[in-house]
Amino acid sequence: MPTPPNNPHLPFGDQRSAPWYGKDVISVNQFNREDLEYIFAVSHEMRSMVERVGTFDLLKGKILANLFYEPSTRTSSSFTAAMERLGGSVIPINEVKYSSVTKGETLADTVRTLECYADVIVLRHPETGSAVIAANAARKPVINAGDGVGEHPTQALLDALTIREELGHLDGLTVTMLGDLKYGRTVHSLARLLSLYKVRLNYVSPELLRMPAEIIGELNSKKMEQVEHANLDAVLPETDVLYVTRVQKERFEDPAEYEKVKSAYVINAAGMQAAKARMIVMHPLPRVTEISMDFDTDPRAAYFRQMEYGLYVRMALLAMVLGKA
Ligand code: NCD
Repeated sequence: MPTPPNNPHLPFGDQRSAPWYGKDVISVNQFNREDLEYIFAVSHEMRSMVERVGTFDLLKGKILANLFYEPSTRTSSSFTAAMERLGGSVIPINEVKYSSVTKGETLADTVRTLECYADVIVLRHPETGSAVIAANAARKPVINAGDGVGEHPTQALLDALTIREELGHLDGLTVTMLGDLKYGRTVHSLARLLSLYKVRLNYVSPELLRMPAEIIGELNSKKMEQVEHANLDAVLPETDVLYVTRVQKERFEDPAEYEKVKSAYVINAAGMQAAKARMIVMHPLPRVTEISMDFDTDPRAAYFRQMEYGLYVRMALLAMVLGKA
């Protein structure tokens, strides 16, 4: 478990004394509010560096192994961009079918192999708990880029940064999560992370896709305010952040069940007239039909800006676990 940074004001400190040096990033439960402030500050610094100089050599000579057992566009390419903007390089393993995994190699052995060549491993895998298995096998830091329906901690960190940058603060906000709350790992991580703040959470989903009871229980024990709804209308006017999710087709065992819920909610320009003028709509992307393109030009549509914050958060995390922040 990582320990909190002891000097949050020293962005680019000495290697081994850096508090996150060598740590894994597996679950948002590893972070406290002070850690988040630190990550936000380093991400902010990364943003201004990218805007000023584009690329800089903080991680020159370091290698990232980007190990993806599931499809990804944003997470994979933003980790690659993050490493390359910091002067490092990347071993991309996207097509696991061409690697030794198809010969029956275990995840632990694959990770032990990659750490011979790389300094940090980013892993996306269809099984919940796979990131822990990888982290236990590896001596080098492992960053969880999504483990099945479990967690997606780097997404939650970029989501929290987005809210903070767009609305100025997190305390006091009403966040409404909409769609597939059962299988969506992004909402599992984000709900947990928001429990560090005074946030009121609304969950709007079809009965079949409700937020798992164990997560609601976990957050209840932290005294988080959570209310479940079947319908968006009642809560849209009070919402500061509407977090929309894709129905996770690939997680359904029965395709008929997916058909029943696949178009349960659609956000569009007309429906959003009922929402506040100052609020944001987020989505981890990819979207399918749950947000209509007629809303994309609305200033409240934050989902494309949200992707960009992902670059800065991932630059910050790589610098931190490699001892440079
Ligand atoms: C999400 C994921 O992989 O969980 N995508 C992402 O990382 N931005 C959400 C999704 O696939 O629906």
